[in-house]
Amino acid sequence: MNSPIIEMRSIVKNFGDVKAVRGASFDLRQGEIHSLIGENGAGKSTMMKLLYGMYDRDGGDISVGGAQMGRITPKLAIEKGVGMVHQEFMLVPELTVLENIILGFEPRKGMVLDLPKARAMVQRYIDQYDMDVQMNKRVNQISVGEAQRVEIIKILSRGANVLILDEPTAVLTPQEASHLFEILENLRRDGKSIVFISHRLNEVMEISDRVTVMRRGETIGTLSRGEWDYGKLARMMIGREVFLNVDKKASEPGKPVLQVEHLWTSGEKEISKIRDLSMEVRAGEIVGIAGIDGNGQSELIEAITGLRRVEKGRILLDGTDVTNGSPEAVRRAGLAHIPEDRNLRGLNRSMSIEDNMVATKLREFTKGGMMDRSAIRRYAEELVQRYDVRPGNPQMPTSSLSGGNAQKVVVAREVEMGAKLLVASQPTRGVDIGAIESIEAILEEVKAQGVAVLLVSADLREILSLSDRILVMYEGRITGSMPVDEANENTLGILMMGGSLEGKEEAR
Ligand SMILES: Nc1ncnc2c1ncn2[C@@H]1O[C@H](COP(=O)(O)OP(=O)(O)OP(=O)(O)O)[C@@H](O)[C@H]1O
Ligand SMILES: [Mg+2]
Repeated sequence: MNSPIIEMRSIVKNFGDVKAVRGASFDLRQGEIHSLIGENGAGKSTMMKLLYGMYDRDGGDISVGGAQMGRITPKLAIEKGVGMVHQEFMLVPELTVLENIILGFEPRKGMVLDLPKARAMVQRYIDQYDMDVQMNKRVNQISVGEAQRVEIIKILSRGANVLILDEPTAVLTPQEASHLFEILENLRRDGKSIVFISHRLNEVMEISDRVTVMRRGETIGTLSRGEWDYGKLARMMIGREVFLNVDKKASEPGKPVLQVEHLWTSGEKEISKIRDLSMEVRAGEIVGIAGIDGNGQSELIEAITGLRRVEKGRILLDGTDVTNGSPEAVRRAGLAHIPEDRNLRGLNRSMSIEDNMVATKLREFTKGGMMDRSAIRRYAEELVQRYDVRPGNPQMPTSSLSGGNAQKVVVAREVEMGAKLLVASQPTRGVDIGAIESIEAILEEVKAQGVAVLLVSADLREILSLSDRILVMYEGRITGSMPVDEANENTLGILMMGGSLEGKEEAR
């Protein structure tokens, strides 16, 4: 067995009172894909940021290529061939792909930027690893998947042998994810070493040579291909059995709460325009929308929540016409919304957990023009408990929460609004399997209380296990509608690709 290119031993990192990493170890061999998994807040991102020099460690040894490292800075890490693609991309949207790649690292001829040389270099990576990247496009015009490939080329062009990818697939469609896996295979074949962080155990089992599990800042163990199965990894992660089978109660839907009638909107892309779409969600039922990302799901949600202009058609919420209402007006009419992008629209990152939690119900916590701080604290403490936000100190800024714990804060705030309609977009994206279990149970509870729930998820397992009715969206239209007991992954898959179930050409 070849000796590790990276060795991290007995690593310790504290953030104030929070012991983020306590004595964890990790090693990476040349030419392997090594996954790092664990609950939200287990310390995965922190471990890798220590390797990349974004934080200073409080203890432990790190060696790179056999050489012991003292203090690491990102600059030094890059010199040593370690590169990291972060969860939030760090590209400049207004610049082209090529400009982003060479930014701060320009091959120069004398004092002049040597563009042809840079272009040739980037083209070599594109060809070598089969990347599918358009160099002349501006970053704000490319898809998330392509932006991620740009990030990968960027770190390769700086000489990375070790690539750290922190939850790269959380933002990808299934198609984009399989494209990424092909690229990772190509990189591995070329001798690169890859650290892969993900909550999706199926993809972890598919692409890894080894898997290391972290829990509460410690490493629980490392398994090699052939030694793992889903249940075993899940148990190592959360220390108990996991049951991702929701105990679903039969629904007895009441009156329609959301009614969308002959809706037309503009779209981010041609195929995502909404075209004459009608649907409804009734009280006490969960309606799931299945579809490949980019077929109008986001546009539909934006139209419902007051974020996108309706060109034609009507939207009624509990009988009130909210067509082209402001987001605030729609909320007043009874909407709660777990947004797709928790950083952009979900949370105010600079505010505390408790202030974020009461942001949508400030009036309830105001007494005589003053905020009732102690009531807010009590309320937030209760929610932090119920939704298992860790660490559970409501006064901490949400910017210090791990990705999955930030998501739990959004879910708690929206579910507790007492709304009539809950729109949940990708509610469990980026949360660990223990939290998926509890968020799904919460959605079931909300439904039992008579709330109408509209669920949009790229995860068919989630759609199938939670929904009472399933709608399939394709190119801005509803192309299928069925009760859940008539649906399965296969039939949904066919409809999502634009096929029809009778094997006939779809009428257009
Ligand atoms: N900059 C920071 N300031 C304060 N605390 C932090 C900071 N970054 C991380 N933490 C804390 O350190 C712990 C580990 O966080 P980390 O981001 O490493 O978790 P993770 O395993 O990546 O989780 P997730 O799967 O949710 O992304 C958490 O308790 C988190 O709240
Ligand atoms: Mg993380």
